[in-house]
Amino acid sequence: MAKPTPPSIPQRWTRRDVLKSGLAASAGALAAQLPAAALAAPLEEPTAAAPAPAAAALAERRQKLDLGWRFRLGNADVAADDLGFGRGQRTFAKALGAAPAARLDYDDSGWEAVELPHDWAVELPFHQDRQLVAHGSKPLGRDYPATSMGWYRNVFTLPAEAAGQRVGVEFDGVFRNAMVFFNGEYVGENFSGYAPFRFDLTDLAAMGGRNALTVRVDATLGEGWFYEGAGLYRHVWLTRTQPLHFAADATAVRSELGEGHRQATVRVTTTARNDRATAARCRLRLALFDAQGRGVGAAHSPLVEVAAWGEAELAANALVAAPVLWSLRAPHLYRAVLALESEGAASDQIEVPFGIRSIRFDADRGFFVNGEPVKLQGTCNHQDHAGVGAALPDRLQSYRIERLQAMGCNAYRTSHNPPTPELLDACDRLGMLVMDETRMMASTPEGLSQLERLIRRDRNHPAVILWSLGNEEPQQGTPIGAQVVAAMKRLAQQLDPTRPVTVAMNGGWGQGVSAVVDVQGFNYGDGGGVAQNAPHLDAFHRAFPRQPTVGTETASTVSTRGIYFNDPARGYVSAYDVNYPSYALSAEGWWKIYAARPFLAGGFAWTGFDYRGEPSPYGWPCISSHFGILDTCGFPKDNFYYYQAWWTKQPVLHLFPHWNWGGKEGQAIPVWCHTNLEEVELFLNGQSLGRQKVERHGHAAWQVAYAPGAIEARGAGPGGVELRSRRETTGPAAKLVLRPDRTELRADGEDLAVVAVEVQDAAGRVVPTAGNLVRFTLSGPARILGVGNGDPSSHEPDHATQRSAFNGLCMALVQTRRQGGAVELRADADGLEGAGVALKSEQ
Ligand code: GAL
Repeated sequence: MAKPTPPSIPQRWTRRDVLKSGLAASAGALAAQLPAAALAAPLEEPTAAAPAPAAAALAERRQKLDLGWRFRLGNADVAADDLGFGRGQRTFAKALGAAPAARLDYDDSGWEAVELPHDWAVELPFHQDRQLVAHGSKPLGRDYPATSMGWYRNVFTLPAEAAGQRVGVEFDGVFRNAMVFFNGEYVGENFSGYAPFRFDLTDLAAMGGRNALTVRVDATLGEGWFYEGAGLYRHVWLTRTQPLHFAADATAVRSELGEGHRQATVRVTTTARNDRATAARCRLRLALFDAQGRGVGAAHSPLVEVAAWGEAELAANALVAAPVLWSLRAPHLYRAVLALESEGAASDQIEVPFGIRSIRFDADRGFFVNGEPVKLQGTCNHQDHAGVGAALPDRLQSYRIERLQAMGCNAYRTSHNPPTPELLDACDRLGMLVMDETRMMASTPEGLSQLERLIRRDRNHPAVILWSLGNEEPQQGTPIGAQVVAAMKRLAQQLDPTRPVTVAMNGGWGQGVSAVVDVQGFNYGDGGGVAQNAPHLDAFHRAFPRQPTVGTETASTVSTRGIYFNDPARGYVSAYDVNYPSYALSAEGWWKIYAARPFLAGGFAWTGFDYRGEPSPYGWPCISSHFGILDTCGFPKDNFYYYQAWWTKQPVLHLFPHWNWGGKEGQAIPVWCHTNLEEVELFLNGQSLGRQKVERHGHAAWQVAYAPGAIEARGAGPGGVELRSRRETTGPAAKLVLRPDRTELRADGEDLAVVAVEVQDAAGRVVPTAGNLVRFTLSGPARILGVGNGDPSSHEPDHATQRSAFNGLCMALVQTRRQGGAVELRADADGLEGAGVALKSEQ
């Protein structure tokens, strides 16, 4: 359900407005808390010859620019194939004219119409080349100039009211080396594929007229060792403000909890920017609202003078009585509404969602939220999903967080780069802690700039608990590494003194960077396996008893959904919890170590979801990793239930493998059970094969001579109620069944349903080996955004209306249009009974 929008601050504040908004009580209580300077500030309106213009409405202040884009590939080598860019030696000879394709009157009608987020790499064919395997086998890079450069254009009209305003463009992240042009003029460039960036466009903007924003995106050089996508794969925003406005990402909202959590002081700092030729006097008006939209606190800063074309700092503190804390169980969000008041009017207004909570890492006792211990049951993840590549609509971010929470995951590491902010919004809203990582462990201007942009943007998210300054960098154990991280930490603390920093280290512990970080990160241990990892962690804790510790990266267990025998030819690994690289551990291996050691704050398993690239342990034809606990579609592998058993309190009894082993009659099949029940009994065709006690954080296993029929596990759940988990030999595939994650969608052109397809036999059992080709048809105002099946060796396209099932399952992403109506997705396959599902899309 949508949260009610809190009332906005009126342009002119009267005592009546305050009373009306319900702020009066807390405003009174505030007086005692306000700094002396704030109280001393004159309360009468500052006078000026002419009143300041009113603030642009919030919706106008920052508008999503996802629609109306045109796209085409350029060329990273040959100017003639790169829309003439760089032809001759005069590219930047004049301010205008660097790129013919950037001119307002350029004819882009032949370009493809696209909407953001957009990842052109996902549409490229898979290509066999050893160089490309780690990145997902897409033709990007210096050897593929014809598919590594992308051009985007968006021609839009700015309203006449924008005259006199500041206009800017913000990018959540572009992969990568973005060169931005506006109305034909070169504006600037951004190196990083992940850090947010923005440009002011005011001087070049045609208010009341047409404007052309052009972005040349060069995905030739990679930053990671995994699939990274290509293009405008995150949102782009247009911003409009009055000349006197809040500086971008300058606002910090921090809360301090008082004794017994009876009250909280909310401290807000921000910067006023005055982009005009006369000085201004202004102050910050702050109002706080709870999730129900009730005013819970208010304050104002002293009046300050902002020089012409200058900036000034503003601060205000408000007291919230009986705060509702943000926690994992109840992620309550407040909203700070900031108005920049000048000459009797609000010249700017912004809203910042925030949470009131405390966090603490302890060297002996791990991690605490609001004073309560929380073991970090985390996963590392890349931004990548079946059907869409790196271009995830916001709803898919929430879907992924929900899937992770279903297995008890409570923490998310944004490996190895700044996330898109919509991911953090989902984590705030759903109650998922975040280890927020910058891309470069570097104190160079570029490295610090990326870190600064990350922290300024993300520091108001209550979900974020830890800044990660690097991952497995060769300098981690050296004095140079220590210097670099010390400079990064200085910046982090200056921008956000409320959170500790860590580095995800896979060696050099106790040296170099170790002496600088607040929380010591462990990627795996000193060599693979339990025998090396546990003593290594204990030895570190003994040697550095005052340093908190966390498993920044653990596990790297490999498994393929629904596969129970390794199959190198097809690139599949069995889904028993037994396969992992030499440096890594099984799910059970790492969790037993971490669960048993209260000094460890917990850890982040590599990875929550499979992702493209890094298809360890195999190469081509494998194009995806197998590290996920869920596959690229979000279908759980068996290990999902290991974690669910030990990370949640719900009774779990999950029996595997499937029982379709025709041809293996009489042969021994390992049968496992992931469960948190104390004892389990296994039956084959009704005959008991014995009871087993289940070790804490362990699993039960049997060897069973295969005979068709059914295996069943039984155990006593809470209150002695018997739980059963059964796997039956199925008949042949007979029908399709559709299972959408949601059926009621918003008709906003962004919302989507994840529709799973099951291939079932006549008795309604999923056929665990089925690979039928499923064809989708859609009616109503919606589109099939992409398809997938979680097969790490599938070379079928993501953007398609058909997909083979993989081990009985595939899925389609159905995205709404901006027009509402009834939508029906149908799935059909040769020789099978098809199925349909009705979805409702409403404004
Ligand atoms: C780690 C690395 C991850 C991933 C993982 C695979 O060393 O940080 O990005 O490559 O290994 O096991």
